[in-house]
Amino acid sequence: MIGIFDSGVGGLSVFREIRKVLPEEKYVYFSDSAHCPYGEKSKEYIIERARSITRFLLDKGADIIVVACNTATAAAIAELRKEFPIRFIGMEPAVKPAVMSTKTGTVGVLATAGTLKADKYLNTREKWAEGVRIAEHVGQGFVELVEKGCTSGKEAEDIVRASLKPLLDEGADRIVLGCTHYPFLSDTIAKVASKLVPERTVEIIDPAPAVARHLYETMEMEGLIRKDGFSIELDSSGNPEQFENAYGKLL
Ligand code: DGL
Repeated sequence: MIGIFDSGVGGLSVFREIRKVLPEEKYVYFSDSAHCPYGEKSKEYIIERARSITRFLLDKGADIIVVACNTATAAAIAELRKEFPIRFIGMEPAVKPAVMSTKTGTVGVLATAGTLKADKYLNTREKWAEGVRIAEHVGQGFVELVEKGCTSGKEAEDIVRASLKPLLDEGADRIVLGCTHYPFLSDTIAKVASKLVPERTVEIIDPAPAVARHLYETMEMEGLIRKDGFSIELDSSGNPEQFENAYGKLL
């Protein structure tokens, strides 16, 4: 069984890709809605949450866990790998493909404050960004929008514009989505970008398909693929009904 967790509904953008490559597995997804957002919380706090969610998922029968949250990956995955004897698959901001494909020489990264200051991200940036300018911005208010199911329309566009414009002003033509909530705003991000810089082709890069492939390869190597029929259990530390509604709406 594949365990997946996030601070909220964001990890569903990763699950959506995972299901394409592993359609016949059993899943248990935990949304830590009662403690969302993680973006501004301390590393220690997030490690503690990740630990307790991992125990919960192991009790449910998970034999591999996807940390479908960039902030929790950056803060806690090293600790989880030390403490628990199973494989953890984490998120990695897709700086590399963005750097390889930019035409303007500027890559924009949208992520939470926690991700942008974490060593994990800073190391990735240092490794891949040579010769390319990286502009960063917190997607201010994005997580809250997605959590309340508002992914398009004027309110979403206004909030997206405020964080996207500084990156486009710096010349970015690739926007890396460094938070798993943000892919649900991809259409709005594309719409706002085409209005702000109609002359520029702006590509939005979501690491979820690469994470799904990595999960598949790891499970294949470890003999964990069961193909015993799809099912998903949805769990939340917040309001379970609200989470089930969000699942139905977003996927
Ligand atoms: N979805 C998360 C991430 O990928 C966390 C967002 C938050 O809770 O602030 O970073």
